[in-house]
Amino acid sequence: MANQLFRKKKINAILPDGEGEIHGSESKLHRILNVRDLTFFGIAAVIGAGIFSTIGSAAFHGGPGVSLLFVITAITCGFSALCYAEFASRVPVSGSAYTYAYVSFGELVAWIIGWALILEYAIGNIVVAISWSSYFNNLLQGLNIHLPFWLTTNLTTAKEALAAVNAQLATGAAATPEMQTIINGFNSAPDLGGTKLFLNLPAFLIVALITALAYIGMKESKKSANAMVVFKIIVIIFVIIIGFFYVDTANWNPFMPNGFTGVLQGVSAVFYAYIGFDAISTTAEECENPQRDLPRGMMYALLICTILYILIALVLTGMVNYSELKVDDPLAYVFDKLGLKWIGYIISISAVVATTSVLLVFQLGQPRIWMTMSRDGLLPKRFSNVHKKYKTPAFATIVTGFLVGIPALFLPSSIMTDLTSIGTLFAFVLVCLGVLLLPKLRAEGSGKFKLPYINAQFILPLIVAGFIFLFRERVTASVTNLFNENHQEVLFLLFIIIAIVLSVFTFIRKYSLIPVLGALSCLYLMIEIPVNSWFWFFVWMGIGLVIYFIYGYRKSKLATEQV
Ligand code: ALA
Repeated sequence: MANQLFRKKKINAILPDGEGEIHGSESKLHRILNVRDLTFFGIAAVIGAGIFSTIGSAAFHGGPGVSLLFVITAITCGFSALCYAEFASRVPVSGSAYTYAYVSFGELVAWIIGWALILEYAIGNIVVAISWSSYFNNLLQGLNIHLPFWLTTNLTTAKEALAAVNAQLATGAAATPEMQTIINGFNSAPDLGGTKLFLNLPAFLIVALITALAYIGMKESKKSANAMVVFKIIVIIFVIIIGFFYVDTANWNPFMPNGFTGVLQGVSAVFYAYIGFDAISTTAEECENPQRDLPRGMMYALLICTILYILIALVLTGMVNYSELKVDDPLAYVFDKLGLKWIGYIISISAVVATTSVLLVFQLGQPRIWMTMSRDGLLPKRFSNVHKKYKTPAFATIVTGFLVGIPALFLPSSIMTDLTSIGTLFAFVLVCLGVLLLPKLRAEGSGKFKLPYINAQFILPLIVAGFIFLFRERVTASVTNLFNENHQEVLFLLFIIIAIVLSVFTFIRKYSLIPVLGALSCLYLMIEIPVNSWFWFFVWMGIGLVIYFIYGYRKSKLATEQV
């Protein structure tokens, strides 16, 4: 059985998949993307809800030091991007990390990654749709258009808003018009069998619209994504330049008001802001020259976003005191506060555009991963049907639309941000480790990407020893209080154990430095995410395993070939 669970796809056997040689030219996608399109696609997927919304709570906990977290996260993503690039140049078909795992670890891990990627793309897109909806409502209100409260949010968020208002009123505060709107809005929501009905209609509608665009075609999607990226980059650069004139350096002091622990509380939010550069690897079969252009597109996108993010973080925390930033629209908020309402309004427009482009790229990515999984027999055949006219994975695109649109109507976004970050980091860890298992054979050909080999035999053990020394107090405290500590510290100890084991293997096998550092840094970010979200992550993965054993294990193409 173990042999079957770890059956691997041969790289040479995968390559014809994307050329339509195996599934017929009917299943072939249009090859129209060049390196500029890919870079734009990367930026389209990365800059969105993270920098316009979730950065607020990260800056509130971490203070100006959150810019340091943007650097740390960028380095971590950089290692992973290099590993993705190595795979993308060797295995240029649509499945992204899923396909990479299939050639390096075998079928079971590939399925697990494919299942985790649903967290990144579909669940991640629910968060983006909700953020889109809240910025969109801001815009409408600016135009004096007021949708009924019950059609703009979900029940949990509405209850939280009401509880916050009641708590303020209980302290004797006078009711402001905003508070009154929430109270009236809540009371006038329709009653449904004793509970109030709340639906986030704008979130659902934007998902439906974007799904239709993804269904119609890559060419249309490419044009829209390019236009949106140009607009959002111009606005962000504008915000950085204007913002710098309003920075008061006194706000940068203290740099880490809640210490490094406070900074680390923003891990999930900051990492979420970077998610997406890997999404372009799902378009491998629509690239003119995937082996040359995919790695470059990923690197360029990551570099541009990193520079913009660090500058934004510094401007944001320099313009107001960090303690004021726990709001959903921090960028618009700081300009509003300085009386520059028109800039706040431009930022809201840009946030709507930015989140639309993220929605589009993710809504394109998810069906393409399913298409690859379906070709391998791990999902029903319909998931790899390509539309005759539009040349897009039609059925899978529609399923993605429902999977994202329906929960966006009802669910709150907080825990889903954590789940998205855990799922994505998990995929990154396995992609990095997978590079270590690739055959030594180098990709030949002009411009193809080659991951530089740096022997980690001595460097990694030294780095791990240094880390343990730096965090010696936390290590000792976690060990001595193992059974009293919360489970977060158990995760930390597990990380230390894995780091030591990987150092030993690296010492013996002379592993390459970039993949091992990539895997360990992603793992470290993972264990800093609240343990409660880990619980849901395990539940999700458990469901995935059950589905694999009921369906994929028997129907897998490799299984039927072996019979
Ligand atoms: N990085 C993407 C965003 O921030 C997911 O919206």
